[in-house]
Formats: sequence, C-alpha cells, structure tokens
Amino acid sequence: MPISVVIGSQWGDEGKGKIVDLLSENVDIVARYQGGANAGHTICWGDETFVLHLVPSGIFQKDVTCVIGNGVVIDPVAVMEEIRMIKDLGYDVEGRLLISHNAHMIMPYHKKVEEARERWRDAGAIGTTGRGIGPAYVDKFARTGVRVVDLLDRDVLRRKMELALEEKNSILKNVYGADELDVDAMIEEYVEFDKQIDPYITDTTQYLCNALKEGQRVLAEGAQGSLLDVDFGTYPFVTSSHPTVGGCCTGLGVPPMEIDRVIGIVKAYCTRVGNGPFPTELDNAAGDELRAAGHEFGATTGRPRRCGWLDLVALRYTSMINGFTELAITKLDVLSNLTEIKVCTAYELDGRRTQRFPSDLHTLERAVPVYETLPGWNRDISGITSYEQLPAEARDYLDFISHFLEVPSIIVSSGPKREETILRSHTA
Ligand code: GDP
Ligand code: IMO
Ligand code: MG
Repeated sequence: MPISVVIGSQWGDEGKGKIVDLLSENVDIVARYQGGANAGHTICWGDETFVLHLVPSGIFQKDVTCVIGNGVVIDPVAVMEEIRMIKDLGYDVEGRLLISHNAHMIMPYHKKVEEARERWRDAGAIGTTGRGIGPAYVDKFARTGVRVVDLLDRDVLRRKMELALEEKNSILKNVYGADELDVDAMIEEYVEFDKQIDPYITDTTQYLCNALKEGQRVLAEGAQGSLLDVDFGTYPFVTSSHPTVGGCCTGLGVPPMEIDRVIGIVKAYCTRVGNGPFPTELDNAAGDELRAAGHEFGATTGRPRRCGWLDLVALRYTSMINGFTELAITKLDVLSNLTEIKVCTAYELDGRRTQRFPSDLHTLERAVPVYETLPGWNRDISGITSYEQLPAEARDYLDFISHFLEVPSIIVSSGPKREETILRSHTA
C-alpha cells in the first residue's frame, strides 16, 4: 500500500500538524522524515492544544505507530520531554514510537556554534530557531556526526564526542570568542539519555519497508516548508534539510514508487519567521491585522511571524517541485473580515512581467508582486464544516487557487481544531 506525503508549500507553519493529525485517523503509520526540534506542529481538539516538535503528529491517534526517520536530527532532551508530555496525557508511547538508529543527534555544541555563528553574521543572520539544526546537518555531511546507534557503545560514544569537542571548542574559542564546553558533563548527559531512549531505537527503514509490503498505510510528515528547502528554497535563508518530496525517500529509506499522494499544505495567505526575502510581505497595518487574526506567533520560538498575501508564483513553483496531487488549504477563516483579498499572480522584474520564481536571492529581492484583487466574503466562516455553507466568494477564492495551480483542494480548514474542517466530497 502506498505512501501519502504531507508537505508545507510555503515557509512553514502552514498547519501541517493539524492536517497530519486529521489524516492519521485513516493510516497505520505516521513517519517524520527531516528537520528537528525547529518544527512546531500544533494540534487542537476540544479545549486542548499541543505543540509537537519531534514526535510525529499521529501520536494522538491510539492505533497509529509513529516513526522518527533517519533524516531527522534528534535533540535527546527535546524528544524525552515530549515523550513525557504525551505519556502524562495518558497515551502509550512505548511500542508506538520508533526512532531510527541511523538518525543523527543534536549535541550541545551544535546549539553553541549556531548561536555564535548567528551573532557573528550580525545583520546577515538567518534568524534560526536556535535548535542546533544547521550545525548538526553540517556534521552529518562532514561525516563527523554522532548517531543514535553510537549511544549503544560507550567507548565509541566517548571517542566520537571527544574528537568532535576538540574541534568545536577550538572553533568556539578561536573563531567566535565563545565559551568552551566540557566533555565529561556532556558524556554523562548522553549516557543517561541512552537509558531512556533505548526502548524506542530500531531499524526504522526495515520496519517501514516490511510494513509497506504487508499493505500498511503510511503518512509521511514533512516539517518546515518547501521555500525553506536547502536546495529549492530562498537560500541562504533556509533550513538545512529537504522538506520537499525527495526528502521523504532519503529521510525514511523508502522507494519513490511507493509514494502515490503528495499533499501540499497551503495557508490561505503567507507567513515567514526569520529573515530572508518575502515578496508579498505586508510590513504595515494590514500585515498586523493578519497576524492578530491568525495568531501568527511561532509555535517553537514565540517570535511574531511576518505576514503577507498569498503568493501563487511561489506556490506554482513549489507545486512543480513536489508534484502536489492535492492541496489542503488552511486558515481560510482568518480572511473572514476582509472586503477584498489580494493574490500575487506574477512578479514585475526590471520592468518585465514573469511567472517564474527566481532561483537567486538578489533577483527575488527585486521582485515586485503583481496582484489580482478578489472580493472578500466579509463574514465569519470559523468552524464551517461543509463546502456548501461557505460564502460564494470563499468558494471562488479556493477555486482561484486550485485553478491557478491545476491541483484540486481536498481539505479546507476553517479553524485550528480537528473538527473545524471541510472534507471536499470528491475525495471522501
Ligand atoms: P505547522 O508547523 O505547519 O504544523 O503549523 P503551526 O502549528 O506552527 O502553525 C499553525 C497555527 O495555526 C497553529 O496555531 C494552528 O493551531 C493554527 N491553525 C491551523 N489550521 C487553522 C485554521 O484553519 N484556522 C485557524 N484560525 N488556525 C489554524
Ligand atoms: P514548522 O515545521 C517556520 C525557519 C527559521 C529560520 C530558518 C532556519 O513548524 O513549519 P533553522 O532553525 O531551521 O536552522 O532556521 O527556518 N524555520 C521555520 N519557520 N516553521 C518551521 O517549522 C521552521 N523551522 C525552521 O525561522 O528562518
Ligand atoms: Mg510550525
């Protein structure tokens, strides 16, 4: 049975957590394939709200097994905290959460180096989440990383950590003028972590491939968004992994032909946290209104999110890269009180109009959005659960997006809660 992949189509925070939680009801396994605790995926039902950073958003469906794949960088402290929180809520985790033995670990020096590097970059800072993500992926590709499997052998762990710290301390001290770290304290902490994480570690690739053979249904959960992809995003203002569809294969170890659905999560407008170009940004009162209406503050860092109009040029580009087969359009309710809504359908670049998303930063920074203005519906649609109940203008807005991208929208989200969702009939 094939794999469905859920992918952020913009700069993250599109509402992936909500949609994955919802779709988990009909699958056997939910698997995270990249990123780390930089992600903040929010899940709401009733009066409860939870934010997950590393554990897949299927964990609150009791019959679902959750996998943290080899492509994820694991912060031991964060994952154990999360497991504790989920257990405290009354959910079984042991036996339902599997962590790849090949996943790389975030070490204390990754956060230190990131902090020092961001300070050193000064005005050119990326505005990272400070979770050590970039430096951990650097070590992975430099072949100096520490993997989960290394926890199993104390001698190997000590040797790797000593070697890594020798280099990192020298960089911290001599390049960034920052404090050095102590190896013994660090080893002690990770040995303690080994005791706690042991029951969850396994060969998740073998597990997933066996499950696929047996006909189990897998939902792959992406973190971040396509425009933060290290290859396809707005480099260097990106994260250090591949949220786009290819990341699913390398981050889980599953064959591409097993993927038959690629679901793009599209927020009905745009947001971005951190620095970097954002052509449709509303750096004014209209942007402030969107932020207030959509409660646009980071789920991981609490930072205010930059807000702007929907950018269909960027979306057509991310749809092309990922091959979206369907869309879930979220936060439509946030646009409730507008009399008109703008959507960007082209860029003006050096006096010429284009629908191509520029691949280099300096060109993108010069892109001036060309807008079409659509009528708003100017009434509250929060919590609506049927397509027919939506005002005609809201349906037209959805159709405009699907038509432009040539991809059907199968889910429309009208509020943060599980139940505040419209499932379009042609997909039921
Ligand atoms: P993710 O990182 O893609 O999982 O998204 P986040 O959880 O970081 O941010 C999405 C925010 O919007 C969360 O606070 C969600 O509870 C909320 N949310 C999701 N869908 C909707 C929706 O349709 N309407 C409203 N008003 N809020 C939503
Ligand atoms: P979810 O999964 C939004 C952004 C950071 C920064 C850049 C690099 O919740 O959608 P990093 O710490 O990854 O090195 O930071 O990426 N960023 C996110 N923005 N949502 C996320 O995750 C993000 N994860 C990273 O703000 O601009
Ligand atoms: Mg988020």
